[in-house]
Amino acid sequence: MPTGAVRSAPAALSPRIRLAPSAPQSNMNASSASTRYHPLAIGTHWLTLLLLVAVYALIELRGIFPKGSDAREAMKTWHDMLGLTVFALVVLRLALRTTFSAPHIVPAPPPWQQRLASAMHLALYAFLVVMPLLGWLTLSAKGKPIPWFGLQLPALLDADKALGKRLEDVHEVIGNIGFALIGLHAAAALFHHYVMRDNTLRLMAPWLGRRGDDSPRS
Ligand code: HEM
Ligand code: HEM
Repeated sequence: MPTGAVRSAPAALSPRIRLAPSAPQSNMNASSASTRYHPLAIGTHWLTLLLLVAVYALIELRGIFPKGSDAREAMKTWHDMLGLTVFALVVLRLALRTTFSAPHIVPAPPPWQQRLASAMHLALYAFLVVMPLLGWLTLSAKGKPIPWFGLQLPALLDADKALGKRLEDVHEVIGNIGFALIGLHAAAALFHHYVMRDNTLRLMAPWLGRRGDDSPRS
C-alpha cells in the first residue's frame, strides 16, 4: 500500500534506505527533502508494472491457442523471459532501496498507515523475488529449458516431474495472491491521490505535477 512507508520502514528494510535523488546528508532536513523518488527507482517501478501486465496476460491468454501450437509455446517462452526480467529488475530495485531513501509524504499519514505501507512494500518485493524464482525452479524440475533472450539459464534443480508439478501449483497460487496485492497497492495509491489528496502518487509519478501544499514542511 503506497503510503510512504519508507521513513518508518521495519528493521528488515533498513532505515538507511533512500530512494530519493541524493542530497548531501548534512542537507537532509525537512525543507531540502526530495518530493519524488530517484529517477531510476521511478523508471524501474513503472517498467516492472508493464512487464507484469505482459507476464500475466501471456500466461492467462495462452489458452486461446491449441496445446502444442507454436503460438502457445511462444507465449509461454515470453512469459518465462519477461518474468526473469522482472527478477533482474527487482535486484536493481533492492540495490537502489538500500542506497537511496524515500521522499516524504505530505501531509504525513498516521504511523499505523506507514507501518501498513511498509508491510505492503515488503510483501510486493518478496513477491517480485519469489515468483520468478519459483518459475525458474518449476522449469528446472520439469527438465525444460530456461530461456532468456537467446541465453539458456542453468537448471536450479535436478529433474523431478512430481516436484515440478507442485512448484507450478505454488507458483500459480502466489501469482493469484500477488495479483490481489498489486490491486490493493494501486487502489491505495489512487485513494491517497484523489481522496486524501496528499502527494503519495506524485512521489512515484512526478509528471502529475505538484499541488500548492506539496513541499516538505519544516
Ligand atoms: C497502477 C499500478 C501502481 C500504482 C498506481 C503504484 C503506485 C505507487 C506509488 C505512488 C508508490 C510510492 C508511494 C509510497 O508508497 O510511498 C509505490 C511504491 C511501490 N510500488 Fe507501486 N504502484 C503500482 C504498481 C506496482 C506494482 C505492479 C508493483 C510490483 C509488484 C509495485 C511495487 C511497489 C513497491 C515495492 C513500492 C515501494 C517502493 C519503495 O519505497 O521501496 N507497484 N507505488
Ligand atoms: C513475476 C513473475 C511471474 C508471474 C507474475 C507469473 C505468473 C504466473 C501465473 C499466474 C501462472 C499460472 C497461470 C494459469 O495456469 O492460469 C504461471 C504459470 C507458469 N509460469 Fe509464471 N510467472 C512469473 C514468472 C515466471 C518465470 C520467470 C518462469 C520461468 C522461468 C515462469 C514459468 C511458469 C510456468 C512453467 C507456468 C506453467 C505454465 C504452463 O505450463 O502452462 N513464470 N505464471
